[in-house]
Amino acid sequence: MSGIKLLATGSALPQHVITNHDLEQIMDTSDEWIRTRTGIGARHHCRGEECHTSLCLDAARKALERGGIDPQQIGVCLVATLTQDHLTPATACVLQKELGFQEDTICFDLNAACSGFVYALHTAECLLAAAKRKYALVLGAEVLSRVMDLTDRSTCVLFGDGAGAAILEWGEDYPSLCAVMGSRGNRQVLMIPGVNTGDPSYIHMDGKEVFRFAVEVLPRCAKEVAAKAGISLDEVDRFAFHQANQRILDHAIKKLKLDPAKCTGNIAHTGNTSAASVPILLDQLVSSGQLRSGQKVLCAGFGGGLTWAGALLQLA
Ligand code: COA
Repeated sequence: MSGIKLLATGSALPQHVITNHDLEQIMDTSDEWIRTRTGIGARHHCRGEECHTSLCLDAARKALERGGIDPQQIGVCLVATLTQDHLTPATACVLQKELGFQEDTICFDLNAACSGFVYALHTAECLLAAAKRKYALVLGAEVLSRVMDLTDRSTCVLFGDGAGAAILEWGEDYPSLCAVMGSRGNRQVLMIPGVNTGDPSYIHMDGKEVFRFAVEVLPRCAKEVAAKAGISLDEVDRFAFHQANQRILDHAIKKLKLDPAKCTGNIAHTGNTSAASVPILLDQLVSSGQLRSGQKVLCAGFGGGLTWAGALLQLA
């Protein structure tokens, strides 16, 4: 059996922080409403020169440096996102040039909304094996502040910007991700119009339906990954769940009877950063020593599509 290990991580958050109190100044909302409904206290928004590409470059450089990997060694570069700077070139292609990957590096962006990073992990695992490459750079990155209607208080309090990066190493005797993925096509519950509709590209969301969907798929997805890996959830060292809403996370933790100490998150400071959420959290877990060499982290995402994805990742 072949598979991958997580070699190094990096992340980048825009400098500008928007607190719930800042939002109180521009819309009819309150810190108390946002915190009790979502667990969010603040989020980061790009300003000035900051953009999707700059966040990705920042996160990727940190991961490459920490992993001691020369960009020329990267065989696959994937960016999970729905808010890239350009429809083309893909951000992954821009990274090829800016970071100096070889021209035969497989580079593309992938959109599976908030499940995107976990979809990209599994895609990288398959590509590394099929294309016989050793290292992949996988990012999740979003600038959701560009697709938010600031007059819609039901969505714009939730989302933020950021990027997370992971270097993956492929090995003959490394563990499989045991990835589980799925989709349930739905345009009503969560949608951002594209180039062909004539509508502004703002997030449209039925919050209650997303909530129902999330509390259904997140625990199921985590259980299926553990079953596929042949381990119990107790044997998992850490959980890196998509940071969409603390109440969704609390529901999953309770339903799966997980130790809350293994499920620390960052939603209070980042809000929901969609595809960037899981890799930013992974980086914070690794940097703070909460995820250590040899330990296993169960990652899971869910969101627009509607999609879900889970995978078990071992730190090298
Ligand atoms: N501040 C204050 N009041 C707000 C508000 C805000 N930011 N947003 C909505 N409200 C109001 C509504 O207008 C409504 O008022 P009304 O009763 O007078 O009509 C009231 O609060 C309740 O709204 P409702 O939509 O029923 O709230 P809710 O309890 O379902 O919470 C969400 C809304 C969005 C927090 C919740 O549904 C949720 O988190 N869903 C999941 C969203 C998500 O995670 N999406 C991303 C998935 S990847």
